[in-house]
Amino acid sequence: MDGKNTTLQPVVHFCIILCIVLLTSLEANAHMWRRQADAGPGTTKNIAEIFQGRCHEHIQCLQTDQCNRRPKVINCTAIWIEFLGAFQHQNPCNTSADVYDDVLTMAVPITPDDQTLFWSGLLDAALNVARVSMQYRILEESLPGYMANQLVWCGDDDPASVDGINYEKCPEWGACENETSFRFWQAASREFSRQATGKVSVALNAHRDGGAFRNTSVFATVELPNLNPDTVTMVEILLVPDITSTEEGEKCGKGSIKELERRLDVAGLPWICTYDPLEFRYIQCTTLENPLEYKACRGDKQESQRAKEETIIVGAVLGGVILILIIVVAILLVQSCKRLTRLDDSQLMIPT
Ligand code: APR
Repeated sequence: MDGKNTTLQPVVHFCIILCIVLLTSLEANAHMWRRQADAGPGTTKNIAEIFQGRCHEHIQCLQTDQCNRRPKVINCTAIWIEFLGAFQHQNPCNTSADVYDDVLTMAVPITPDDQTLFWSGLLDAALNVARVSMQYRILEESLPGYMANQLVWCGDDDPASVDGINYEKCPEWGACENETSFRFWQAASREFSRQATGKVSVALNAHRDGGAFRNTSVFATVELPNLNPDTVTMVEILLVPDITSTEEGEKCGKGSIKELERRLDVAGLPWICTYDPLEFRYIQCTTLENPLEYKACRGDKQESQRAKEETIIVGAVLGGVILILIIVVAILLVQSCKRLTRLDDSQLMIPT
């Protein structure tokens, strides 16, 4: 018996240590986002006021470039209550896919025909272009996107928490699957894509590491699969290079863009691809401290100025030559007329 015990003891110890290690690592995984979120912010202070304030601002079209007048009556308080209910008192890493569906039924993203703009890898440029151009509308300008843009939110499932909102820390983007704000953006993107009609555009960063069209992006996984080929007539790929880079980046028909083009073909969606669209080039120039240091920002201006000057010079020279020719021809005509008159006079004098 004693011998058996002595043989089993190391095995039992090993099992106990293994169990402790496994439990510790499981615990650590479950709270992984908490550690990763240490550096990240918690729920935005005054989120209730900001969210509802933005809602009122949007539906009253106070920022006239960022709204659509809508026939449906919108109840901002009701939308907030529904939104809050989706995450309050809950573990932010345990959100089901449909939890924001009712919020998005109450606050539907809407864009006019031919104006929907998707983007991936260049939020700032897309926001800026959409703000200054009436040609493009992005999710962040639609009601749900406008209310939630740049906000941080997550629940607190600690029973000791009074309001069930964590103002200290929230999981970082991608820190855990089923993360609450990611669920919101997924659902909003899905609805945004479903309602798009006519020509739609997607702006992609030609200098993005790993390719402009990223397989794991929200655009690739949510928006693209939800485009309706019966109502979307054309997908315009806008491939935007970083104008401060000396490299050209990805090009249409190559690399990850080729894969996007293939997927559009499979989905039955006609497409066109433009490299370096002007709206995005100029908007980047406006964000640089010394834009004239970059060829992309001064090239066209100087070239068109030079072209204008050249046209003026050529025009002036041609005008001068034509004027001289007219004068010469006129002088020659006058002289020949005079000669003819003299000849006639002398012929008339012969018979006499
Ligand atoms: N860490 C933190 N935030 C991230 C991360 C990350 N690893 N990945 C993405 N994000 C957040 C950032 O805020 C980023 O600006 O998601 C945003 C978009 O990510 P992208 O990969 O640039 O683009 P994509 O995933 O395709 O989402 C953009 O979804 O919002 C809609 O309609 C919108 O077409 C747009 C698309």
